Amino acid sequence: MPETESLISLDKVSKCYKTHHIDAVKGVSIDILPGEFVAIMGPSGCGKSTLLNLIGAIDKPDAGSIIFGGQSITQLDDEALTRVRGEKIGFVFQSFNLLPTFSVIENILVPIELIKGKQLKGSEDRARALLKRVGLENRANFFPAQLSGGEMQRVAIARALIHEPRLLVADEPTGNLDTQNGEKILDLIKEFNRDLKLAVIMATHSREASLYADRVLLMKDGTLESETRVTAASTLSTGGPSAAESD
Ligand SMILES: Nc1ncnc2c1ncn2[C@@H]1O[C@H](COP(=O)(O)OP(=O)(O)OP(=O)(O)O)[C@@H](O)[C@H]1O
Ligand SMILES: [Mg+2]
Repeated sequence: MPETESLISLDKVSKCYKTHHIDAVKGVSIDILPGEFVAIMGPSGCGKSTLLNLIGAIDKPDAGSIIFGGQSITQLDDEALTRVRGEKIGFVFQSFNLLPTFSVIENILVPIELIKGKQLKGSEDRARALLKRVGLENRANFFPAQLSGGEMQRVAIARALIHEPRLLVADEPTGNLDTQNGEKILDLIKEFNRDLKLAVIMATHSREASLYADRVLLMKDGTLESETRVTAASTLSTGGPSAAESD
């Protein structure tokens, strides 16, 4: 069960891409609890990725405040934001973003090397354990081009979790996968969400994917339109998530 103190709290957060005069996110307030799984849906261009970039400390808001783990990150400089990301947040993207000249195991270790400048003791063991957990222990020395899309995304999940983040930001993680591989990825994310008390915020166009979440937020034109809570009963009929109830 999620705790009651927010892991991340956004208060009236806005983001404008000034050179193009686009108000991508307009006065959005959200609280995400530790261990909570939140999905964001909405039409293309409504601001989902922009919002995830703010939540994931990749980008800074123009207005409003963001508190992560009790610390305000609104005014942090780029170096401090990088540290927050490196210590507390993992990312999974639609296009996997693995480094083509690095092996699977090297790709998983990249976040550790970027943040600490060197491999921490035990990191490789942890990388191998994660690889096993995503079912790819026999692919450690493969290169990304030698993997299927679903396998690449499983490596990306292992990479996102190597530094034991408290939040996973997933931007359309199943967008490039067929239904079966998409389900495998969502099952994995859900397992890590439950087992590690990992909070997850995921943008998706897929209704099926959104039902893996505890809550589904609907965005429209840069604002949050509505919120739907996914009920336990709604996940029974197919053995997986299948329907939701509005609050
Ligand atoms: N770097 C940028 N510079 C200027 N405008 C941008 C930038 N990134 C996004 N936008 C614009 O901001 C708006 C929101 O984009 P965003 O990528 O957040 O939408 P989205 O909901 O993630 O869409 P999709 O479902 O297609 O991924 C769009 O109008 C987009 O054109
Ligand atoms: Mg997007």
